[in-house]
Amino acid sequence: MPDPTLLTGRVLNTLSDPFREPAEEALRIEDDWGVVLERGRIAAAGPAGDLRRDWPTATEIAYGRDLICPGFVDAHAHYPQTAIIASWGKRLIDWLNSYTFPEEMRFGDADYAAEIAARYLDLTAANGTTTICTFCTIHPASVDAIMSEAQSRGQRLVAGKTCMDRNAPEGLKDTAQSAYDDSKALLEKWHGRDRLSYALTPRFSPTSTPDQLSALGALWAEHPDCLMQTHLSEQTDEIDWVKSLYPSARDYLDTYESHGLLGPNGLYGHAIHLEARERDRLKETGAALVHCPTSNTFIGSGLFDMAGLADEGQRIGLATDTGGGSSFSMLRTMAAAYEIGQLRGTPLHAAQLLWLATRGSAQALRMDDRIGSIRTGMEADLVVLDLGSTPAIQQRAERADDAWEEVFATIMMGDDRAVRATWIGGKVAG
Ligand code: GUN
Ligand code: ZN
Repeated sequence: MPDPTLLTGRVLNTLSDPFREPAEEALRIEDDWGVVLERGRIAAAGPAGDLRRDWPTATEIAYGRDLICPGFVDAHAHYPQTAIIASWGKRLIDWLNSYTFPEEMRFGDADYAAEIAARYLDLTAANGTTTICTFCTIHPASVDAIMSEAQSRGQRLVAGKTCMDRNAPEGLKDTAQSAYDDSKALLEKWHGRDRLSYALTPRFSPTSTPDQLSALGALWAEHPDCLMQTHLSEQTDEIDWVKSLYPSARDYLDTYESHGLLGPNGLYGHAIHLEARERDRLKETGAALVHCPTSNTFIGSGLFDMAGLADEGQRIGLATDTGGGSSFSMLRTMAAAYEIGQLRGTPLHAAQLLWLATRGSAQALRMDDRIGSIRTGMEADLVVLDLGSTPAIQQRAERADDAWEEVFATIMMGDDRAVRATWIGGKVAG
């Protein structure tokens, strides 16, 4: 790609949090703007005329009426579940045992892990996703596979070895000690290398002994700058199971808290059925919750309280949760978040949905100083959306009274055909 490059079109300007400010003031769709990319970063953003004047040597790519957005940030996914996405008919625990664990078993084979890692990053880039925070499997090779693949693409990615030392099949269990040792070695190998970060990854309390949670809590205390990702209160049967496995815990969150696994760099996927104490502690510690709407409807988990949790000032990201989630697309994920909001009587504005998929998720990952918005100095990760990508969307967009109504049609009905281009680190992906 020639350097500098000037992309012109409409630009999504994420100024402030649309859950705290009026949505259409917090985010703006700027007409006839542009973004200058230089050496993998955003060198400038503003009115196209000003940029053409100030960057006369830049090569312009004109996207016309397309919307240039920050690249989508998927704050919780399981790349090893790529090939079993959309598996029929089970709820969480049966779904794990029937579909997920047998597939994850295959990732001891480094070649298979590399094949799926490449396929997964192709699929997500085609859907406009530029950063992912993903679980791997218990196999260190599964971490190496996705990290190497992201590294060769110049992509920002967070990943961690999933740790499980009970309630999983033979061949898919580690131990407290090996989880500590392998996680430490992988963290030392990958964390902070190029655009990669390591996240400590206990799968969830039912598949870890208290000893394993303590070992990972100790490792986190040694590396507090790392993220820690896990699952929390996704289904009611799961919560009952956690209570029986940890009889002295005050609640589900306490199984993490009492083992050193609650903190400001913690990411808690799902967080649907929370008790008041859990909400208070999550807020006090500044931990992040991750809303996974297509997964929550697909596996039948429940309705995340987006509006209530945002009102409390919780930090919240948005995610596909592939392959419990039924899509690789953050557009489809925003649509599902809207639908869940409707079922709770609190519809989200298009600006709130786009915020969650970009800067909100970047904040959840504590990376909003580098990704998630179009501002000078940010990394050049962008998705360019065609807001009339299918006849159905086109005819609805033509009726729109304003740009928010127009973009909402693409949020609700768009898929990878709406993605005109995905830019990762200043280069077109794919
Ligand atoms: N809880 C524990 N593991 C998983 C998983 O792989 N997917 C989902 N959706 N929930 C989980
Ligand atoms: Zn998950």
